[in-house]
Amino acid sequence: MSDSTPGVALVTGASRGLGVAMAKALARDGWTVAVNYARDTCGAERVVEDIVHAGGRALAARFDVTDEHAVREGIARIAATIGPVDVVVNNATGPQPYIALSEQTWEDHLDQLRFFVKAPLLLLQAVLPDWRSRKTGRVINIGSEVVEIGNPLFGHYVAAKGAMLGLTRSWARELGPEGIPVNLVAPGWIPVERHRDSDPQMLEDYRRQVAFERIGSPDDVASLVAYLASNEANFITGQTFAVNGGRTLA
Ligand SMILES: NC(=O)c1ccc[n+]([C@@H]2O[C@H](COP(=O)([O-])OP(=O)(O)OC[C@H]3O[C@@H](n4cnc5c(N)ncnc54)[C@H](OP(=O)(O)O)[C@@H]3O)[C@@H](O)[C@H]2O)c1
Repeated sequence: MSDSTPGVALVTGASRGLGVAMAKALARDGWTVAVNYARDTCGAERVVEDIVHAGGRALAARFDVTDEHAVREGIARIAATIGPVDVVVNNATGPQPYIALSEQTWEDHLDQLRFFVKAPLLLLQAVLPDWRSRKTGRVINIGSEVVEIGNPLFGHYVAAKGAMLGLTRSWARELGPEGIPVNLVAPGWIPVERHRDSDPQMLEDYRRQVAFERIGSPDDVASLVAYLASNEANFITGQTFAVNGGRTLA
């Protein structure tokens, strides 16, 4: 059985958005957090400072999660600095443009698959030998409710998040005998910095579709991620957890 007594948790894409709340929630639970990012050093350093200020431990870990060499180097650097990674939270995302079906290219699809299939695969392959030797490890993939909804103009993103769900299930079965849990958290629309200019009417229309009749917060997502990283979640694998206030309840 995987023992996730707080060691080192890597949150990809944690310089802003949902990843920040995940990094802070994991740090509050005693994890030493690797705050991954690709560009925004100030944002990542700010997250690290906030965590340290609150009495936690964290490291800003700059590397491109879609680049195989960078991932291997990044994982090795984290291990050498704060210890080997025990939990990988696959959260990073690139731009998510809406594109009409007639305009979508294969490259648009690859842009999304690089984040939601390639990066999780590269990261898992970089940590797995160590997890096997230490009999530890767990994966938390950040999916999306769009897989249930099938949002138009978004086939590239929806397909890649659907693929992420598929690999969550396949990995859960393959790694289950080794006690490595793999789960997927599927948020609804949780406004973050990149949604600053969103149409308020769109947000209000969305809110009306939520059973709780409120818009979720990054902390709503982060608290579930922290739970799935904990020993309390030791008998849970291959599952999808919607964090959307009941918007997609059947
Ligand atoms: N927010 C929502 O409403 C929502 C809803 C459903 C699902 N989700 C999912 O939740 C996750 C987080 O979304 P978000 O809204 O928080 O995104 P976000 O605010 O755009 O943040 C994306 C993060 O990814 C990092 N990043 C970008 N390219 C990277 C790369 N190549 N390597 C490493 N890091 C990279 C960015 O850092 P740098 O700029 O420093 O590189 C940033 O920290 C995504 O998987 C998204 O699909 C979000």
